[in-house]
Amino acid sequence: MPQITEVLKGKLTGREIELKGWIYRTRTVGGKVFVVLRDSTGILQVAITKGDVPPDQFGAIQKALIESAVIVRGTVVQDKRAPGGYEIRAKDLHVVSFAEKFPITEDQSDEFLLDVRHLWVRSQRMTQILRVRHTVFDAIHGYFRGQGFWEVHPPMITPAGSEGGATLFEMDYFGHKAYLTQSWQLYAEALALAMEKVYYIGPSFRAEKSRTTRHLTEYWHAEMEEAWVGMEEAIQHAEGVISRACARVAEERPEEAIAFGRTPEFLMAVTPPFEHMRYDDALKLLKAKGIAIEWGKDLRTLEERALTEGKSKPIVVTHYPVVSQAFYKRRDPQDPKYVLGFDVIAGDDVGEIVGGSERETDLEVLKKSLADQGEDPKAYDWYLDTRRYGSVPHAGFGMGVERLIQWILKLPHIRDAIPFPRTPARFSP
Ligand code: 4AD
Ligand code: MG
Repeated sequence: MPQITEVLKGKLTGREIELKGWIYRTRTVGGKVFVVLRDSTGILQVAITKGDVPPDQFGAIQKALIESAVIVRGTVVQDKRAPGGYEIRAKDLHVVSFAEKFPITEDQSDEFLLDVRHLWVRSQRMTQILRVRHTVFDAIHGYFRGQGFWEVHPPMITPAGSEGGATLFEMDYFGHKAYLTQSWQLYAEALALAMEKVYYIGPSFRAEKSRTTRHLTEYWHAEMEEAWVGMEEAIQHAEGVISRACARVAEERPEEAIAFGRTPEFLMAVTPPFEHMRYDDALKLLKAKGIAIEWGKDLRTLEERALTEGKSKPIVVTHYPVVSQAFYKRRDPQDPKYVLGFDVIAGDDVGEIVGGSERETDLEVLKKSLADQGEDPKAYDWYLDTRRYGSVPHAGFGMGVERLIQWILKLPHIRDAIPFPRTPARFSP
């Protein structure tokens, strides 16, 4: 069965075809009804002239409201006046279901559109984003598989977190405290000693109350872990996978990118290497721009914005001070004030899209860091076995897939990068 995108590419001009879709817009002009039909691939005008279709069908289409489902048969013609330049002249038309009055009209508030998200996903805006999302996921899988990584899956229900207690979602697991996963990382480190190069894309959960344009409480996390490598190799993979995703969107979804103000040329130019700087040098740059930040503090939106201003590629910040860093990040042997950790930071107010590091392999250092951060080393005893039995250097990272999509499409808010967003204020529909 043909789809609207094929018509719009001029592949079916002059042919008689059958299309299935939903009424996106409708208007009557004299003895003609113009229906803009949508399917999963786009929108197309259908012209229904009285007399060209049986009278009962003409009556039915005059009555049919927006979002009624329709099957239409007709001839494809090129017509400059039609949106997209093509039109179907209907010969036969069947209303599969008459919709009630659709609640979404123009100019509705963001809050209302979130309330009716299950209907708003049908909008051109959302279907364009969902097609890009599909391509981004495929690109991530393709990148890692092409580099010889195994896809392996961690549990979602876990006995302890990896990113600190403050953002853990707690659950009652038959009388025991359990948590929704924040990251696959601890499991990935165990799996890397089995499969060496591993990756995965799946949901992560953060009980993060911050209402920002880049935080979700449930997001999709693309993560990798590799044995026998250090931070530099992990950075190369982060650059590689981001670059691949941008290129695939440029190649396969150019119309969608353009609709959101990103040109395919811009996306094709997101190639490695990105600009790298140490945390201390980032602080110097910020100081030169008049932004003072206390050594050891994390970079906030303001600082990330200043560092990425005017840059068309994300940047990589490395060697963060050891204070306030996750327990598993390896101390820099050249200067243990720093960790061999990095963030990839994107512009357009998206900020950190990747966080990664080389992992600490010293059992005693790990135990002490866990204790320093108020964690119970016993809860991590299984994890510490990875250091007791055949420990090797290894590194990895996690990438927020919605943040990447947000940056690729310059979306003002992360919630549009996922079909049904979960935020502190909302967990329905
Ligand atoms: O920097 P984070 O917390 O790092 C980790 O979880 C590591 N264990 C990853 C690893 O090394 N395997 O999270 C990684 C990325 C962030 O850079 C960000 O892109 C995304 O996950 N992220 C979020 N995305 C949306 N909403 C949130 N609340 C997010 N929190 C983190
Ligand atoms: Mg981080």
